[in-house]
Amino acid sequence: MARLSPRKLSMFCLCVSAFVFLVITFQVVEELGQFDATIHRWGAQDGGVLLSDEKVDIGADSSYPVIVWWSPLTGEQGRLGECGSNKCFFTVNRSFYSHPSTQAFLFYGTDFNVESLPLPRLEHHHWALFHEESPKNNYKLFHEPVITLFNHTATFSQHSHLPLVTQYLESLATLTSHAHLVPLAQKNQLRAEGLAPVVYVQSDCDPPSDRDVYVAELMRHIPVDSYGRCLHNRDLPVSLRESTAMDDPAFHQLLARYKFILAFENAICDDYITEKLWRPLKLGVVPVYYGAPNVRHWLPSNRSAVVVNPDSEPKKLAEYLQRLDKNDGEYLTFLEWKHRQEVANERLVSDMKHRTWGVQDLTQNNYIDEFECMVCNRVWENINREKQGLASKTWQAQADHLRCPRPRLFDFEADHHADGPSLRKIWRPSYDQSVKEARALRRLVMKNKNFTVAQFWKEVFSFQINGE
Ligand SMILES: *[C@@H]1O[C@H](CO)[C@@H](O)[C@H](O)[C@H]1NC(C)=O
Ligand SMILES: *[C@@H]1O[C@H](CO)[C@@H](O)[C@H](O)[C@H]1NC(C)=O
Ligand SMILES: *[C@@H]1O[C@H](CO)[C@@H](O)[C@H](O)[C@H]1NC(C)=O
Ligand SMILES: *[C@@H]1O[C@H](CO)[C@@H](O)[C@H](O)[C@H]1NC(C)=O
Repeated sequence: MARLSPRKLSMFCLCVSAFVFLVITFQVVEELGQFDATIHRWGAQDGGVLLSDEKVDIGADSSYPVIVWWSPLTGEQGRLGECGSNKCFFTVNRSFYSHPSTQAFLFYGTDFNVESLPLPRLEHHHWALFHEESPKNNYKLFHEPVITLFNHTATFSQHSHLPLVTQYLESLATLTSHAHLVPLAQKNQLRAEGLAPVVYVQSDCDPPSDRDVYVAELMRHIPVDSYGRCLHNRDLPVSLRESTAMDDPAFHQLLARYKFILAFENAICDDYITEKLWRPLKLGVVPVYYGAPNVRHWLPSNRSAVVVNPDSEPKKLAEYLQRLDKNDGEYLTFLEWKHRQEVANERLVSDMKHRTWGVQDLTQNNYIDEFECMVCNRVWENINREKQGLASKTWQAQADHLRCPRPRLFDFEADHHADGPSLRKIWRPSYDQSVKEARALRRLVMKNKNFTVAQFWKEVFSFQINGE
């Protein structure tokens, strides 16, 4: 284990307590339904000016552009943020909507709400969307009519203005590390003692990717140890049953003994890649990956994962895995990059080298800071252009900044739902409904008038009647 200097340790503690505070504050904010929690800062070491518990005097003649977090993501009532040589005033206080210096509104996808939008949108109002999560959490943003309402984006898509594709990967060094690697001879020994070749750990059952139905079918053809709540057939040691155990070294050791890990995302979208892919790669286990159709753009080498073809039967996949299980030479070709500690994928290397934010790295900005600064700097760019008598620049999100296809349902013999109701059937109707909501939302926003929830639903409903 790495030794921490007292300074790093105290920064770490600060960060953890800030996070805990944040979580608690979110709950409080949620419960009270208002945004009057005290000010706190997420990673205060980034040079941002902390205006904790002070009344910030930002008069009408302020020289700083005001940027309003319409979603209370940061909880900050007021902070003068420094972005290189530019400064902007960030606040979650919505009454700044009518402040003359207000230039931009920031939205967090998961709590983007039609209920109250900053309308009318004035000509100089930038809208910016931060959404790193699965579409599961707000489908209507994932359609062209809505995503193109925004000027600036930070999403998991490589096409967004601040791409967060590698948001779950700390560094290339963690990827090539041998810290958890279990030699093949030992894996074979464990197999002889009865360990399954494949492991699955999921507790979020029946998400839009319909992974549990696929895995249930796969399990009819190859042994899979399933430790999570979904398709559970094996218990974790008691010490690992807490939810925090996913980061426990003992949990990593347990997984590292397997030959294959089923790495199935909860939703299927290009570039939507989570720790499910990176974890097995870090551990030296071959991921059997179902998720981003373009995952090959991001794999460390062209032979580092078994990529599931959803159009082919699970039985075929099982047969392939059985073959690799019996053939050491062939299995090891999937770990060659790991043994050589070499990431051959130049796109991945370049992305990791050039990204301006860190993951669990106190020496770098986090991606929320980077998002805020991207917007602040663009706002300043136009202020400076105006001063020089130049036409202002415009930015516009494109459909591929946030896009996922309609969820598909598998149709296999294995019926693991005999014992209860299931969520799996709601995703497609929910997606279809969100298409209508997206069109209605765009129509209302383009009218550029504040609207009520009732008007929104009326608009959605009118599409349904007219079948537009
Ligand atoms: C929000 O800003 C307004 C105007 O600056 C101020 O009167 C109000 O107290 C602020 N609200 C909070 C919760 O700080
Ligand atoms: C929009 O209308 C709602 C009530 O319908 C109101 O609470 C909100 O303040 C209005 N927003 C703006 C920006 O005028
Ligand atoms: C895979 O990568 C290796 C080297 O990294 C290269 O020699 C080989 O041609 C590649 N194979 C394919 C099919 O792209
Ligand atoms: C922001 O997007 C809107 C809508 O597409 C557009 O009218 C406006 O010019 C854009 N503003 C900037 C600063 O890019």
